Amino acid sequence: MSVAKKEYKRVTVKSLIEMKESGERISMLTAYDYSMAKIVDSAQVDVILVGDSASNVIAGHETTLPITLDQMIYHASSVVRAAKRALIVVDIPFGSYQSDSKEALRSAIRIMKESGAHAVKVEGGVEIKESVSRILHAGIPVMGHLGLTPQSIYKFGTYTVRAKEEQEAEKLKEDAKMLEELGCFGIVLEKIPAKLAKEVAESVSIPVIGIGAGNGVDGQVLVVHDLLGMTHEFNPRFLRRYMNLYEEMGSAISSYVNDVKSRDFPNENEQY
Ligand code: KIV
Repeated sequence: MSVAKKEYKRVTVKSLIEMKESGERISMLTAYDYSMAKIVDSAQVDVILVGDSASNVIAGHETTLPITLDQMIYHASSVVRAAKRALIVVDIPFGSYQSDSKEALRSAIRIMKESGAHAVKVEGGVEIKESVSRILHAGIPVMGHLGLTPQSIYKFGTYTVRAKEEQEAEKLKEDAKMLEELGCFGIVLEKIPAKLAKEVAESVSIPVIGIGAGNGVDGQVLVVHDLLGMTHEFNPRFLRRYMNLYEEMGSAISSYVNDVKSRDFPNENEQY
């Protein structure tokens, strides 16, 4: 189905607010390297997230905790070289903003200066208020991230749905309001009940982007490797796979191996 959408030469944080106001849903997808970012950007995804999920899908770590600021800057600068239309948001990795707000600002500045990205994303609410505020005061756009926050996975103990209980839901709503009041340009809500996510999206004027948060929010984000079916062992209910690249790539690579072994590759037209 084709959908009406405004044309943007470059999506900005202002464009995202306009999209929310006009009811146009926002598409956001991860990318961590030049080739993938080119494809994602050409497909007119509005926001590219250089997520710290690179720690999982690129580096093979169990959690997002090990990825470093230098590694995030490397991924982000590759994406920046590729993407001409999308707004590029970069996760500040675990350990680079939680200890104090001055370190948070230094990390955000390094990301902006060394990668050329347009905004940063941080996980948490009131606990990181000072850091968010300091980064925003330096003129750097900040996106919040509430609900399941993978950098705190060892505090939660599991990747199950968050904010099902009244007390956690109330805190999440207060955190969302606080992020809006501080001046964040958007909030990611991960793996929370759809009803709560809709309520939050309706209560703030900034765009709320969901992952596993239902259809009542202003946009959706997925990890591109999951959408393409490259990560075949990850099967949460919220994930819609559009391809099974794990199998398709595996079968293409097996054909190559067979062609080499059988001396079919290269043939006369594939040599000099
Ligand atoms: O790192 C990431 O990919 C994310 C998304 C899951 C929102 O934070």
